Amino acid sequence: MKVLVIGGGGREHAIIKALKKSDKITQLYAAPGNGGISRDARCVPIKATDIPAVTEFAAQNEIDYVVVAPDDPLAIGMVDALEEKGIRCFGPDKAAARIESSKVFAKDLMKKYGIPTAAYEIFSDADKAADYVKSNSVSFPLVIKADGLAFGKGVIIAANSDEASAAIDSIMREKRFGLSGLKIVIEEFLTGPEVSVLAFTDGKSIAPMVSSMDHKRAFENNEGPNTGGMGVIAPNPHYTDEIARVCEKTIFLPTIKAMREEGCPFKGCLYFGLMLTPSGPSVIEYNSRFGDPETQAVLPLLETDLLEIMEAVTDERLSNLEIRWKNAHSACVVLASGGYPDVYKTGLAISGLDGNGNAKNSDAVIYHAGTEYRDGAFYTLGGRVLGVTAAASDLKSALESAYKTAEKISFEGVHYRRDIGKY
Ligand code: AMP
Ligand code: GLY
Repeated sequence: MKVLVIGGGGREHAIIKALKKSDKITQLYAAPGNGGISRDARCVPIKATDIPAVTEFAAQNEIDYVVVAPDDPLAIGMVDALEEKGIRCFGPDKAAARIESSKVFAKDLMKKYGIPTAAYEIFSDADKAADYVKSNSVSFPLVIKADGLAFGKGVIIAANSDEASAAIDSIMREKRFGLSGLKIVIEEFLTGPEVSVLAFTDGKSIAPMVSSMDHKRAFENNEGPNTGGMGVIAPNPHYTDEIARVCEKTIFLPTIKAMREEGCPFKGCLYFGLMLTPSGPSVIEYNSRFGDPETQAVLPLLETDLLEIMEAVTDERLSNLEIRWKNAHSACVVLASGGYPDVYKTGLAISGLDGNGNAKNSDAVIYHAGTEYRDGAFYTLGGRVLGVTAAASDLKSALESAYKTAEKISFEGVHYRRDIGKY
């Protein structure tokens, strides 16, 4: 089979490395891919959101299957366009992708179907939102979220009414996130450990993957600005079997049932961002796709052929498939550019990798998130540059192995957190 993966980050590299193990695949393509991905798949210079170019490429090259990995092509209907042309794919259609692309849709869905989530109000009028945060009916901190996609930056935790008003001004009046800020959700601040659970679902049944823990802040001790994710461990130590059972019953199954009943069954990878609050697990967010960097820690633990699972999702026969996981722990440490998530340099030479972008003399896997390959060498091309993942029978060994490999890789200004797995 000829398979095309849409996207070009660490998540896509992890998907591609997992797909590469499938005997059924004769040729793997990535659009646009990146430097490291180019060593594992044929990269085609098409933007991940360019639906006409992707559908044309897939038709002309007789692609059998397309994996649409990032949120934005899903939100604008890439799966719908490919399916219209008779091309099979993995990922939700536009209507189902609203579970991520509209927080208002997701919150209203949870309210209607009794799925636990923070109490909230929705506003489409900045003046009314501003009055609300100054009223006596609110207590702080409060969480303010832009309705639409906002590069992972659309969530503001306001400590008082001045900060809340500033957030409303920035999102709704100054339109910091463009049309994504036409509406906002203002919700209750919850506390507790956070857990990411990615799950395969064909709209009828659901198969949760091994749980994981992201580390969103840029610096150690969970300080500094929020990032796309600085590291992951899997499984998440807070996510016990008992909690998993509660989540399955109160969150996972009700969510796929709700999507079916709303006429938009979700097929693909559904990501549950959960908070284990004192009163039980609660949904912080849904994503309509594999998480990044979570995928870089989760997929290395998968034993079953990924393509086989993806096709079972597409053909709606997931419940017949047994999915096997390694009884192991994994740790992913993200090597970022100095200055990320703010201003950083690119085009810096990376040392410590072999010609295929792998680590030298190490079992750790290197996922490329933001690299370019030129004349046999790798250069930085993004904020998050590499994800170094190691698996072992216990978390401590996995972390040691990932850090040992990370230390041997360098580029000017390289920055990574030394405390992944400690929180
Ligand atoms: P999101 O972009 O929705 O993943 O939110 C980013 C981060 O904001 C989450 O990982 C949480 O740490 C935090 N957050 C979002 N919603 C809430 C909430 N209701 N209460 C507390 N923290 C939240
Ligand atoms: N790691 C969070 C996300 O993929 O959105």
